[in-house]
Amino acid sequence: MQKPASIFARDFEWANLAQFATTVADYPRLGVVSGRRRQGKTYLIEALADLTGGLYFGATEATETESLSLFGAALGDHLGQPSPPRFDTWDEAVRFLFAVDPAKGPFVIDEFPYLSKVSPALPSIFQREIDRAASAGRRTNLLLCGSAMSVMGRLLSGTAPLRGRANLEMVIRPFDYWLAKQFWEIDDPRLAVLVHSVVGGTPAYRRFAADDSPQSVDDFDDWVVRTALNPVRPLLREARYLLEEEMQVRDSALYHSVLAAVAAGNRTRGGIANFVGRKSTDIGHHLVVLEDSGLLRIQPDIFRAGRAIYQVAEPLVTFYQVVMRSQWGALESGRAQTVWAAAKTKYWSQVIGPHYEQLCRDFALWAPPELFGELPGEIGAGVVADRARRGQIEVDVVVMAAGLPGQRRKILSLGEAKWGEVMGRRHVERLERARQLLSRDYDTSETILACYSGAGFEPDLDPAVLTIGLDDLYAVAP
Ligand SMILES: Nc1ncnc2c1ncn2[C@@H]1O[C@H](COP(=O)(O)OP(=O)(O)OP(=O)(O)O)[C@@H](O)[C@H]1O
Ligand SMILES: [Mg+2]
Repeated sequence: MQKPASIFARDFEWANLAQFATTVADYPRLGVVSGRRRQGKTYLIEALADLTGGLYFGATEATETESLSLFGAALGDHLGQPSPPRFDTWDEAVRFLFAVDPAKGPFVIDEFPYLSKVSPALPSIFQREIDRAASAGRRTNLLLCGSAMSVMGRLLSGTAPLRGRANLEMVIRPFDYWLAKQFWEIDDPRLAVLVHSVVGGTPAYRRFAADDSPQSVDDFDDWVVRTALNPVRPLLREARYLLEEEMQVRDSALYHSVLAAVAAGNRTRGGIANFVGRKSTDIGHHLVVLEDSGLLRIQPDIFRAGRAIYQVAEPLVTFYQVVMRSQWGALESGRAQTVWAAAKTKYWSQVIGPHYEQLCRDFALWAPPELFGELPGEIGAGVVADRARRGQIEVDVVVMAAGLPGQRRKILSLGEAKWGEVMGRRHVERLERARQLLSRDYDTSETILACYSGAGFEPDLDPAVLTIGLDDLYAVAP
């Protein structure tokens, strides 16, 4: 089944969804599609239902009674029944659904968490009907989709009723950074990094910016003012909505403050707690919720077990916390130009620097394995203590080989990333020092030193040092 031309990329996802929807088995099949808001879940599964002649039902926030009548109406319409079936309970509705000719499927239920929040028994009801259908040899294809990551994650976990019944479990993620460049139709890699630092790889944000893609690096400032900071563009309010919608939390103040702390560079649990004025133990739950919902991610320190740091996973949220939040009133009244001019220093130090480091780590993941000698086992950042010099060395891009039991772990590469600095001898010396210190505990015999720069390299660098410029960063597209 051909992917519609309007769907950019997502070839892998489409192929698997199409296979799921068109495979005929002699047993019922369950698919679960999840992913953060705005990543294009509905876009994919609606097209799928459309092309296969299946049912698409998008649930809304509603009472059980109203949801049942909406579901009945959608089903009746799909089956061409003059009067829609009426259901008093989900029990009835699901039994009815499983009695429908499976050829009328797949049956796609989008925004499933809206339903299960109001009717918590729904997953068990599906479980029961799937099991019954299995023993009766009925081959109903059911696809559940939703974005409240915590709910969707729980659907298949541990002792959950649907555990072990899914045949397809798919998470729709943002486009990878090099795909985002293509999606925004940007040629200049420098501009692509800048744009990615604001809108990341979330597909919907291109439409939220009214399809306005910056023309050149010189146009970037103006583009920020025209889009992310523009009160008539949905991008302006998006970061706020994300938090409320994604997590349906009540005390959103503390969540916002935790995100602000991380965006401002407080990356350890203690540092975050200090910033928000709470005890470390008081924010544990909030960190877990933010991580479950995909807004925060934990970046382990490769060299120091148990010393993880937190990162904001969605670039727009960082941008909001650093640039927009403190100037909300001015932005809503349309003073974007002034706000951006004043915020640019903070943007350069708190947003683009760390963002570029992350892109370089993503690059290491996508780079051809020959570049580092072999396929990496783990990529991350790490801190090396330098006791003799009473300091520490932060290594931005650490590429480790896959660990083999009983052997010293092999470091494939140690790299430093600088967005705004021409890199040269002194950067390499720091990396050499790190390699020397690490050689006590790790196999560094083949460690490649790497400089990643957004501003270029000094001409007389040791040719053994790997230099990754902006063009190289984007030369990974398969
Ligand atoms: N692969 C894609 N190619 C082109 N545009 C896309 C793609 N995926 C998403 N979009 C754009 O992003 C918009 C938002 O996608 P969609 O509504 O499907 O996201 P979602 O994951 O269902 O989000 P939500 O959880 O908020 O419902 C789409 O309407 C479309 O404009
Ligand atoms: Mg959707």
